[in-house]
Amino acid sequence: ESTELAARCARLIRDVADFPLAGVGFKDINPLLADAPTFADVVEHLAALARAAGGVDLVAGIEARGFILGAPVATALGVGFLPIRKEGKLPGPTVSASYDLEYGSATVELQPGNLPAGARVLLVDDVLATGGTAAAAATLLRTTGAVVAGLAFLLEITSLGGRARLDGLPVDVILTVP
Ligand code: PRP
Repeated sequence: ESTELAARCARLIRDVADFPLAGVGFKDINPLLADAPTFADVVEHLAALARAAGGVDLVAGIEARGFILGAPVATALGVGFLPIRKEGKLPGPTVSASYDLEYGSATVELQPGNLPAGARVLLVDDVLATGGTAAAAATLLRTTGAVVAGLAFLLEITSLGGRARLDGLPVDVILTVP
């Protein structure tokens, strides 16, 4: 782990209280994305994790901020990119997985036609919080016959316990906050 990169990222992630709902502490990564060297270093670091894990055939990113990080990681690795989207955004055929939110539920979808059977996939997102989103995405990938080689996040909020919901899959993060 690069503690220098983690410290730089920490300075460039803005905490926003009560967004988008009262009681939620939002992590705004946009200052980091606007900082060219840090954005580039984050992408390279996430790609290096995938290389160290033996390489992957595809990067999957979770809407919306997982697209921003995952797509450049895919090109850095020389592999393709698979968008995992919120319900109703992708033309079929699609497969879906639903998960619980604090209030209500959400659904993520992917197009299995763009996911070769047995592909080794790196799943990328910006934040691991409760883990509901990532767990649903990982389930979806495995349901379609892909192998989740690992999950990579910019930031893990450890107090929310998301890692425990990821079935012991390899998880890498650049920085953690309580
Ligand atoms: C955020 C974040 C992760 C997810 C993490 O996405 O980008 O995808 O929440 O939360 P969890 O671990 O508790 O599931 P958000 O729903 O805000 O969507 P967005 O990226 O489209 O803004």
